[in-house]
Amino acid sequence: MQITVIGGTGLVGSSLVRQLEQAGHGVVAAARSTGVDIVTGTGLEKALEGADAIVDVSNPGYGDPAAMLRFFRASTARLLIAAHRAGVRHHVLFSAIGAGRVNGGYYVAKQMQEALVAASNIPFTIVRSAPLFEYIYAVVEAGRTAEAVRVPPVRIEPIGTEDAAAVLARITPRAPANAVVEIAGPNRYQLPDLAQQILTANEDYRPVVTDGDGDFFGAHITGDPLTGRDALRPGSAELDLWIDRALVPA
Ligand SMILES: NC(=O)c1ccc[n+]([C@@H]2O[C@H](COP(=O)([O-])OP(=O)(O)OC[C@H]3O[C@@H](n4cnc5c(N)ncnc54)[C@H](OP(=O)(O)O)[C@@H]3O)[C@@H](O)[C@H]2O)c1
Repeated sequence: MQITVIGGTGLVGSSLVRQLEQAGHGVVAAARSTGVDIVTGTGLEKALEGADAIVDVSNPGYGDPAAMLRFFRASTARLLIAAHRAGVRHHVLFSAIGAGRVNGGYYVAKQMQEALVAASNIPFTIVRSAPLFEYIYAVVEAGRTAEAVRVPPVRIEPIGTEDAAAVLARITPRAPANAVVEIAGPNRYQLPDLAQQILTANEDYRPVVTDGDGDFFGAHITGDPLTGRDALRPGSAELDLWIDRALVPA
């Protein structure tokens, strides 16, 4: 199968490109560094030439929530038009558990991106992922002050990048589900406990303060909105079975 990975040079994208190539697919990694800009459209038509499926794992970087919203709105609209013209038969969107549940920051942008994909006329699968392990460090960094590290009381089930990419690599060649599936890591943590473990491992003995107003990707989150519901859990021996059940085309 011919697959274009939008954001194919990023953290998730580069792992996905490697895994798709290993599985024998023809892959184009699209990113500004490879001459493709999904906001302006530069190079997009060529990157989608002959594509049976696309996977969107692009990201503008985490920062101003309004800028993220603008990026995902403009890029997704452009991508969907270009994919339709190119005859793409499966649009896979990598989204985040919390989209549709958390009303703030990054999650509002991802919810809007999902809505555009679901309303398009291209068959799709939306894969909502739990936070990646790599980004838990960023959340801990964001809460760092001179005396303490402040993080919100949220439960998370972090997932490894390779595992998330492995699920995308299995889902993309399949029939579109026209539905949302969730993926999460095998273990559930309270973020403050996990933050404490990370600090201790780094020989940083500042206390972790549980802060209901703490920042999580620009949102204020407490409790359970980031834990998976009937989520696929890569690494489980039953992953194939789960994928079969979860991805019956709607
Ligand atoms: N962080 C989490 O815990 C988490 C959880 C669930 C889902 N996700 C989702 O995972 C996705 C990927 O995250 P990531 O950490 O792998 O991102 P990343 O490492 O920052 O990579 C982003 C990719 O997007 C490309 N890109 C950025 N602007 C572009 C543009 N205008 N045109 C074309 N390509 C562009 C980048 O390449 P260039 O800079 O060369 O353009 C790069 O290949 C995001 O959609 C994010 O929402 C993240």
